[in-house]
Amino acid sequence: MSREEFPTDRPAVVTCGLPYANGDLHIGHLRGYIGADAFNRALNAIGQQSAYVCGSDMHGTPVAVNAEREGVDPETFALGWHEQYEETFPQFNVDFDNYGHTHDETNTAITQEIVRTLDEAGYVYEKGIQVAYDPDADQYLPDRYVEGTCPYCGEAARGDECDEGCQRHLEPGEVEEPTSTITGNPAEYRERRHKFFEVSAFEEYLTEFLDGLEGTSNARNQPRQWIEDGLQDWCITRDMDWGIDYPGEGGEDLVLYVWVDAPIEYISSTKQYTERVGADEYDWEEVWRKGDDASGSEIVHFIGRDIIQHHTIFWPAMLEGAGYNAPRAVAATGFITINGKGLSTSRNRAIWAKEYLEEGFHPDLLRYYLTTTGGLQQDVDFSWDAFQEKVNGELVGTVGNFWYRSLLFAYRNYEGTPEAEVSEEVQSRIDGAIEEVHEAINDYSLRGIGQAATRLAQFGNEYIQRNEPWKLVDEESEARRASEEPSGDEPRGPDKAAQVIRDCVQIAKAVAVLLEPIAPEKTQKLWDQLGEAGAIEDASLEDALEAPPRTFEEPGELFEKLEDDRVAQLNEKLEQRVAAAAADDAGEGEETETDDTDDEESGDMAEIDDLEPLAEDRISFDDFQELDIRVGRIETAEGIDGADDLARLEVDVGFETRQVVAGIKQLHDLEELPGEKCILLANMEPAELFGVESNGMILAAGEEADLLTTHGDAGVGEKVR
Ligand code: 2FM
Ligand code: ZN
Repeated sequence: MSREEFPTDRPAVVTCGLPYANGDLHIGHLRGYIGADAFNRALNAIGQQSAYVCGSDMHGTPVAVNAEREGVDPETFALGWHEQYEETFPQFNVDFDNYGHTHDETNTAITQEIVRTLDEAGYVYEKGIQVAYDPDADQYLPDRYVEGTCPYCGEAARGDECDEGCQRHLEPGEVEEPTSTITGNPAEYRERRHKFFEVSAFEEYLTEFLDGLEGTSNARNQPRQWIEDGLQDWCITRDMDWGIDYPGEGGEDLVLYVWVDAPIEYISSTKQYTERVGADEYDWEEVWRKGDDASGSEIVHFIGRDIIQHHTIFWPAMLEGAGYNAPRAVAATGFITINGKGLSTSRNRAIWAKEYLEEGFHPDLLRYYLTTTGGLQQDVDFSWDAFQEKVNGELVGTVGNFWYRSLLFAYRNYEGTPEAEVSEEVQSRIDGAIEEVHEAINDYSLRGIGQAATRLAQFGNEYIQRNEPWKLVDEESEARRASEEPSGDEPRGPDKAAQVIRDCVQIAKAVAVLLEPIAPEKTQKLWDQLGEAGAIEDASLEDALEAPPRTFEEPGELFEKLEDDRVAQLNEKLEQRVAAAAADDAGEGEETETDDTDDEESGDMAEIDDLEPLAEDRISFDDFQELDIRVGRIETAEGIDGADDLARLEVDVGFETRQVVAGIKQLHDLEELPGEKCILLANMEPAELFGVESNGMILAAGEEADLLTTHGDAGVGEKVR
């Protein structure tokens, strides 16, 4: 089923995964909040009414365990973090329309209402199950109070999630060889009666829901597999004091599992927004309550890929059972790695939100890095070197350079925007960029949004270079001196100079409008420099084509180059604190994980035993020269029917577009590939595979067919030497 494209005339809501109110925010968190913020801003820019809501996740063992460690009661502990988050998000220009928390009255009331409705509809039942118990602590051990081995993959797991292995949600009683995290003793299993939500009754519904679900492909494909493996009912209560009380009969001493009330905060936070602005401006019920409109909702969830199951199985089943709308899209992002290794809070291998700001970096730089490095589903590696390259290459070199040179030239020669018409070429280039943003939004591609803006700036630089307005202006002065018009085929001189600069100012404005979702503060500065009134975030994409004010003040540079010695300093600091954490850890003899962060190491060294030996026979340089290896850009990628592994790609190699067949269908998310640079052996003999001609070979490394690419500004069509 294909949905009406954004913008629609129904209100949308954009959400991102709720942060547990239990510790400092880091770059891994920020990727999600910034990404969803950028998406929401982009929706607004194309005229889609939308609210961006979230809240702190206050309940559950992730909060209770850390509060206990600090010797504080969970409510005080969680509220303390909640207040810090409320301060931190705006510092990264993350602009929630409402930021609530799961422990407030709205969420308590809606959660209890939903659970009651599910109970009355017959979807909730009670069952005796084995629950881990610590006899020394005389306490049941829900979720993070117990650790053991995952019954599915054999990796170390927490009570409710296989966080280091297969990422499955685990039900109480499932973890094998349970150990209490309170005393470190082996736990016993004892029988307790708990409440279950009958997820299995929604199998057919969920299958259909997934067929229509937009967002990233992992959010559709993984749950399909889980459904095929058979859906289990879901235990929705816990033996704890901290949480929302179970509202029905027979559960007086139980609270709801944190994953029941956490996503309901999406609804509660939207409701609070309506309560603030009034239903005439934004009606939460229109978004969430199931009505007669069969066209579906405009609910878009941005989440981490570790919580796909909660958002595509439990959550839509709850919504459906309780009479609420299901999400239109679930966009599940990959993880953040630091210098090629897994982000680890316990090893202090992280970039902390506070630290980033204290280093004096502008939030928009990180916003740009996190949204435009890699596709949504891909893991994004952060290193200060890569950050420097991105900032210096794209923001300073391309966007900032274009903005500054065109506005400065316009200011010096015309005191602002010259009086001339925008050329057809530039008009249609801007139109094309606007279209790219529309497509990127409907593909949930944040990178696509950023690239549309950066490519337009790149075009601007080429345009100014090609037209050399400085020469045209000189010609104007010379012509004035000689009192004659300059000759030539093309109109040159004053008119041409004015027109070229007029074009450049228009492109500069358009780049700002297009880039606003990603860099709201920097683009506001450009907006102010142009003498535009009001807030750029209120501008629509179409405003990119509106004439800027006739006069403006002298512009300043908006981006600053990040120098090598500064990067070296930052690298050293990071290395030192990782080393200090490792030394502490060795001293303590054990690792203490302080939050929910994925701790996996994704090392960049393959096992030597698995490597093919280096070739002994050498080839001459001339032999190498015979290989015509080029930088390409993937334009399209699709599977080949009937071939399990093969994909058909169209690759722009500068001179032409090549059709190439590559064995990457299972190993890559094909939807994420268009726009990626790749390396292509262009003079490979053509071959036919499954009836499709392959005219070149994409280069890749390793078992997972890691596609080779370039990391600098080598252009499409350039030869690899
Ligand atoms: O995994 C987490 O960090 C959870 N706090 C996310 C909750 S998202 C939602 F469902 F509320
Ligand atoms: Zn597992």
